[in-house]
Amino acid sequence: MFSRHATATTLTLLGIGASFTLAPLAQADQAPSRTGAVAASGSGPSVIAHRGASGYAPENTLAAVDLADDMGFDWVENDVQRTRDGQLVVVHDDTLARTTDVEQRFPDRAPWRVRDFTGAEIATLDAGSWFGQKWTHARVPTLRQYLDRVDRNGQKLLLEIKRPELYPGIEKDTLRVLRQEGWLDRSHIRGRLVMQNFSADSVKTVHRLRPDVITGFLGTPPVADLPSYAAFTDQINPAASSVTADYVASVQRLKGAHGARLKVNTWTVNDAATAVRMSEFGVDGIITDRPDVVRDAVD
Ligand code: G3P
Ligand code: CA
Repeated sequence: MFSRHATATTLTLLGIGASFTLAPLAQADQAPSRTGAVAASGSGPSVIAHRGASGYAPENTLAAVDLADDMGFDWVENDVQRTRDGQLVVVHDDTLARTTDVEQRFPDRAPWRVRDFTGAEIATLDAGSWFGQKWTHARVPTLRQYLDRVDRNGQKLLLEIKRPELYPGIEKDTLRVLRQEGWLDRSHIRGRLVMQNFSADSVKTVHRLRPDVITGFLGTPPVADLPSYAAFTDQINPAASSVTADYVASVQRLKGAHGARLKVNTWTVNDAATAVRMSEFGVDGIITDRPDVVRDAVD
């Protein structure tokens, strides 16, 4: 295990109060490619590749993780759901229709819900052709495969449990896989993992089961409610359309569940003007399908 793209923003993103010296940032071609390795942003907000580098490769696939790595981005975001036979897989929608060839492969299985298919069935689907013919071989990864690849790349993971209300107990299942795959050891907990969610109850469950894991709440709670969120989470991660400078300041003046300043990572920002505005608002991180565009805008 190694980290090729250590950035000063890692601990900031995690919500851990610490400072250290920046490694020199390599310069490279700005075009998204597998050859131009550059580091993510320095003093500006962290840049987090949403579903991997999903503007340039099929979302939530190993190819999108690898592309983010080769573009120089160490933080990737993903979405985790559960199959009929209890496997955890990385996919965003609660059906497989948009991002795989499931409708052609299993025409009589509408509405093609993730939870109605076995892991073995999902493993046979083409999860790349919808994005472009060169991605035909992409698959829906299991969480284990995904963690292995992120780890091998020396990257860090903003893991979202998607639609937890559909999958009772998925918090425990996810933590079990993380532990079995070595992601709950000290180095991962301290520097390479954040678990986020749109459900406050689910974030609370993760915090109760593993109080040492850094967590994030996806949404924009009213300012008056922020102190109650700070009891169980380290990050408030709102949609960019809902963010104001005052809101960012209101979050950041509180301490999160681990005693560090509560952080703000906003989503999903794919254009330079919005990235600059978010940066000026003082957000800690920007989640984006086009990490190169955001990096260039905020650096
Ligand atoms: O990480 C934030 C973002 O992923 C939340 O929205 O729908 O893309 O999972 P969504
Ligand atoms: Ca997500």
